Amino acid sequence: MKLKKIPSEFIAKRCQHVSLEVSDVEKSLSFYRDFLGLKLSERHKAGEHRNIPFEMAFLRLNNRHHDLVLTHDPKREYISKSENRSAAGIHHFAFECPNRESFLCYLSRAREMNLTIVRGPVIHSSFHINGDDSWGENESFYVLDPDNHRLEIFCDMASITEEGAYVNAYGLTVPNTFAEET
Ligand SMILES: [Fe+2]
Repeated sequence: MKLKKIPSEFIAKRCQHVSLEVSDVEKSLSFYRDFLGLKLSERHKAGEHRNIPFEMAFLRLNNRHHDLVLTHDPKREYISKSENRSAAGIHHFAFECPNRESFLCYLSRAREMNLTIVRGPVIHSSFHINGDDSWGENESFYVLDPDNHRLEIFCDMASITEEGAYVNAYGLTVPNTFAEET
């Protein structure tokens, strides 16, 4: 079946929140509050809602109800995700910093909290003089949460023009870069 193109005014606005399944809500709550400054909007016990047999905690970054949801099923046996073994699922999810100062603030915070930085800081670029020859133009570092979910903290991602050219956060068009689809 050939599907019709979605009219541009109907395209979803953004990928907005992620719900993580965690082995211990309390532990993860502390991590996301302490490291990122997320605030708890509401928290519910398993079975509190007639259709929801999970424990849930809704966390927000600013004024929207939730940007991150922690979910825990008390009937499930959780195994820990490792480098070598995991179910297919989310590789990493990311928090965008409003600017580089904010990015550096989170970086020093991660170091202060002795979090294991599993990658970075790195600039995903073949254009930037210190880039790693990968894609997006953003500067990033990656840490693991208490269940080894990989979080990316980043700033300065390129934007893509209607013609498909990449423009970095400083307004420069990145040479020889074209989005596959426009
Ligand atoms: Fe990423």
